[in-house]
Amino acid sequence: MSKVTVIGVGNVGATAANVLACREIADEVVLLDIKEGLPEGKALDMKQASCLLTMDTKLYGVTNDYSKTANSDVVVVTSGVPRKPGMTREELIGVNAGIVKSVVANVLEYSPNAILVMVSNPLDTMTYLTVKSTGLDRHRIIGMGGALDSSRFKTYLSEALNGANLNDIEATVIGGHGDTTMIPLTRLATYKGVPVSQFLDKETLDKVAADTMVGGATLTKMLGTSAWYAPGAAAAFVVESILHDQKRIVPCCVYLEGEYGQNDICIGVPVRLGRNGWEEVIDFKLNEEENALFEKSAEAVRKTNAVLETL
Ligand code: NAI
Ligand code: 2OP
Repeated sequence: MSKVTVIGVGNVGATAANVLACREIADEVVLLDIKEGLPEGKALDMKQASCLLTMDTKLYGVTNDYSKTANSDVVVVTSGVPRKPGMTREELIGVNAGIVKSVVANVLEYSPNAILVMVSNPLDTMTYLTVKSTGLDRHRIIGMGGALDSSRFKTYLSEALNGANLNDIEATVIGGHGDTTMIPLTRLATYKGVPVSQFLDKETLDKVAADTMVGGATLTKMLGTSAWYAPGAAAAFVVESILHDQKRIVPCCVYLEGEYGQNDICIGVPVRLGRNGWEEVIDFKLNEEENALFEKSAEAVRKTNAVLETL
């Protein structure tokens, strides 16, 4: 029996739980929130969709009762406030740090062996806070940012390639999960194995990269709050890669000890995901320009991490 808990069942958490259930990624999914009735209601609504979708995942909703989350294999943390139009992810730190720290402590009391998938923003700093406050083996803490940013990168590339099938596009975003810190690796993006630079000129590729970087802000402006379908799906994708021991390479935010020349920071790099969490950083050689961008990104993430000390 596999069990996944989703903490915070607002837009992103509920979408992640729904994808986990609809695709039968876990046998059991627990939804937990502090808003009384919300997790129970969402679980019941999803349950009533079960017979229509012929799915058999067991769904439970609980208001802040961590005992019901006991022995979860994977826990997804989405609790916290989302950004409003004009806000950066970094501005959420004051509120979300307290929520994330207390939620994670509660989770580990009942699921001491769980793998944690962090979603709350600012993602790199919330992941770092979790590593530091729990002292867990770093392989068990995974921030979801790069999976979403890469899928946005692929979407913009597909549009530039006149509607190319998204599954024929390989593209990766590394670095921080922030409008100015993420690094779409244009040089390494391919269309059916062929570098995209063979089909698209530099100006178009630069625009694709710029659109990717502000992909979250663009949606926040349109929706009045941050996006949830792709973020929820990306969180479920990371959970599936872990739970089903898929050994997929996914860009995730993890704690670095020398990889990519960085120490004592959580930032997005490609990792191989499996049943024990992230198993290996795929530490490939960046070119000079990419390396400079990565160092700049790390510097900005460190600045946000430093705010933790002032809270
Ligand atoms: P939302 O406001 O729709 O949902 C957040 C939920 O967390 C609410 O239902 C709230 O009641 C709950 N919550 C607050 N404090 C809690 C606590 N102590 N325990 C349990 N639940 C608690 O927000 P949304 O849109 O779902 O976003 C959630 C977080 O995810 C935000 O911080 C947002 O910025 C972040 N996010 C991260 C992405 C990523 O790629 N890493 C992508 C999209 C959003
Ligand atoms: C997003 O990228 C705001 O992190 C959130 O949609």
